[in-house]
Amino acid sequence: MVESNESYSVVLESVTKIFENKIRAVDDVSLEIREGEFFSLLGPSGCGKTTTLRLIAGFEEPTSGRVFIKSREVTHVPPHKRDTGMVFQNYALFPHRTVAENVAFGLKMRKLSKEIIEQRVTEALRLVELEGMEQRRPHQLSGGQQQRVALARAIVIEPAVLLCDEPLGALDKKLRQAMQFELKNLQKKIGVTLVYVTHDQEEALTMSDRIAVMEGGKVIQIGHPLEIYNRPGTRFVSNFIGESNIFEGRARVLDGGRLEIISDDGFVIAAQSDKVKDGQIVTVAVRPERVQFVTSEAKADNKLTGEVESVNFLGNSILYRLVLPSGRLILSLMPNRGAVQIRQRGETVCVGWSLSDGVILTS
Ligand SMILES: Nc1ncnc2c1ncn2[C@@H]1O[C@H](COP(=O)(O)OP(=O)(O)OP(=O)(O)O)[C@@H](O)[C@H]1O
Ligand SMILES: [Mg+2]
Repeated sequence: MVESNESYSVVLESVTKIFENKIRAVDDVSLEIREGEFFSLLGPSGCGKTTTLRLIAGFEEPTSGRVFIKSREVTHVPPHKRDTGMVFQNYALFPHRTVAENVAFGLKMRKLSKEIIEQRVTEALRLVELEGMEQRRPHQLSGGQQQRVALARAIVIEPAVLLCDEPLGALDKKLRQAMQFELKNLQKKIGVTLVYVTHDQEEALTMSDRIAVMEGGKVIQIGHPLEIYNRPGTRFVSNFIGESNIFEGRARVLDGGRLEIISDDGFVIAAQSDKVKDGQIVTVAVRPERVQFVTSEAKADNKLTGEVESVNFLGNSILYRLVLPSGRLILSLMPNRGAVQIRQRGETVCVGWSLSDGVILTS
């Protein structure tokens, strides 16, 4: 059992939500979200992100488990009494009301005085940089501006926890990146705890203090973005967050925790771990950016020779697909250092990576 703890804004304790007696949308999820934290729920479509957020907001009640906000159990408390604000993916603005009326909505519901409402609406619109747009209606605003109105409407009630469900999903890439930056700044400025739902791994990596990766209604891994990226715990996480070269094989334990992983097709790679037993079947993930070109004479913990099968120019980097004599494909991501350095399709190249670049996955 989780005891009430001052430093947590949101606590989910073994929360399960089953729809229609059979759809396990959220499956035994436990989370502790710290005060002032930017916490993301990340995972593919249908993994239970929105349902988790709705359970925190109170739009759904769990089938089992408990929900706490600011140390108070709210499992059966209705949404408007939970001290949360929500921003929906489609903004859900009132089309016939002005910007100011949209933002004032939650304050009117709380029956605050006209002066206070006016003052707080002005302040919220200032925070999202929409001063002067008070009298416009949603259709007279761009997507990014509508998104800010939705944000202002949520923060104006000064909730303890702000819940955002893919709030930037409808924006184009440039605007989304600008808004990511602004949202993060705003969150730190007002100090609100933010629970952010996204299926976009880059967005989660750039914005979050911590990320919970979800799959099939379960939280698979929780950690700092760097930890999730550099030390994914499972094959699912390592492939969902960026790309990885995956090697599977039987481990032979050598001195000092060095491992030789021998796959069925006789392929051998070197890795390092003191947790693996001799003879154990393990999976090793190596990020493409760790697989770098080396000269054929170079010494490397792992060195492979292959043929360039394809070259993808990504602007600041180049993604190579190499095919090894065994037919196995290897991804290598190289920084763009100018045209001379770029290898062509059909060229034979050597790539290498060091022991510590291989991450041993548990499942
Ligand atoms: N009201 C409902 N009734 C029945 N099933 C539901 C209901 N809401 C969600 N589900 C199911 O629960 C699962 C999780 O849905 P949820 O909306 O939480 O996923 P999500 O991670 O937000 O996905 P997306 O990225 O597509 O928004 C899905 O299988 C979905 O079909
Ligand atoms: Mg969703």
